[in-house]
Amino acid sequence: MRTRISAIRIVLLAIILPGIASANAQLTTDFYIKSCPSVQSIVRNGMMVAVRNETRMAASILRLFFHDCFVQGCDASILLDDTSTMQGEKTAFPNANSVRGFEVVDAIKASVEQSCPGVVSCADILALAARDAVVLSGGPFWNVRLGRRDSLTASYSLANSNLPAPSEDIDTLISKFAAQGLSVSDLVTLSGAHTIGQSRCVNFRDRLYDYDGSAQPDSTLSAAYLAQLQNVCPSSGGDDNLAPLELTTPTRFDNIYYKNLLNGKGLLTSDQELFSSNQTSTVSVVQNYAASSRSFFTNFPTSMIAMGNISPLTGSNGEVRINCRVIN
Ligand code: HEM
Ligand SMILES: *[C@@H]1O[C@H](CO)[C@@H](O)[C@H](O)[C@H]1NC(C)=O
Ligand SMILES: *[C@@H]1O[C@H](CO)[C@@H](O)[C@H](O)[C@H]1NC(C)=O
Repeated sequence: MRTRISAIRIVLLAIILPGIASANAQLTTDFYIKSCPSVQSIVRNGMMVAVRNETRMAASILRLFFHDCFVQGCDASILLDDTSTMQGEKTAFPNANSVRGFEVVDAIKASVEQSCPGVVSCADILALAARDAVVLSGGPFWNVRLGRRDSLTASYSLANSNLPAPSEDIDTLISKFAAQGLSVSDLVTLSGAHTIGQSRCVNFRDRLYDYDGSAQPDSTLSAAYLAQLQNVCPSSGGDDNLAPLELTTPTRFDNIYYKNLLNGKGLLTSDQELFSSNQTSTVSVVQNYAASSRSFFTNFPTSMIAMGNISPLTGSNGEVRINCRVIN
């Protein structure tokens, strides 16, 4: 009897302990295993269709997840449309005329609702879609932790204050990530998402003509790259002209983003700062990933999981929205 009880105890401890060890025990990879076993394949199919139609959509969905998680946690708050009583996040400065992919999330959500009505949150759909975006672009796979609920609110002001700006220096970037519980190494690792996708001219023009009021280009820009960018992005006008964030293989998820930083070919100030600020804590990580794709591919999932763990909503603080754009 005694040994039996202690055996049960050990089993119970084995179940409970990992929950205590993790601050986000409520998220689990098998959350929908009974309630919606097809959710993973539905999201993957939706992403395949979207990316086949437009390659850039992989990047856009990955960014959408980041911009969701940094504002009230990963709670699909970014997906809410403005209402007469609530100014949402879509018109906040970092998002306006910039974040995209809402129709893709809507289409995936509609398919999921057909199979499992009212079960899968928009926040979890976005987390799965972001992982699939990385895989479809040639990046690493990871098991996504699930069980987030959708917010009843959104925050225009937190979107403006929490999201990093492309002109920010290394100290500001580090502190904005720290405010979300993310490390310096997470900052460098997650910035590697800029191996895919595009930026508008308005976000890097200052570096090409008048950096920091110097009337000169940013001296960290390689000369050839500078000339190339000036062609795309004139000193005035053309705000929405696009340049790839990583010029060598702009649609492929790989470690070339980091190699380019070593050569003065980061597009945004926030990219080049990871290397050119000379801060040992970020430079060493950039050098590691530039030298080892394997190291980047090992760490990127870990940092995505850390970002995905930011303040998940549980219980009656959240809901499973039927339409990702409006609360039920
Ligand atoms: C470190 C601070 C970061 C800053 C300052 C930043 C800033 C930006 C800016 C300004 C753009 C271009 C937007 C436009 O021109 O409309 C962009 C694009 C993008 N960002 Fe970031 N970002 C950061 C970190 C991240 C992170 C952590 C991720 C994801 C894990 C991410 C994923 C992306 C992707 C994939 C794109 C391309 C989107 C597309 O082509 O639609 N970024 N980012
Ligand atoms: C396909 O991509 C284009 C932009 O390249 C977009 O306008 C269109 O809505 C997309 N169609 C579907 C079905 O996603
Ligand atoms: C970083 O180091 C390089 C090479 O020593 C130097 O040219 C540059 O001015 C330094 N940058 C900063 C921001 O200290």
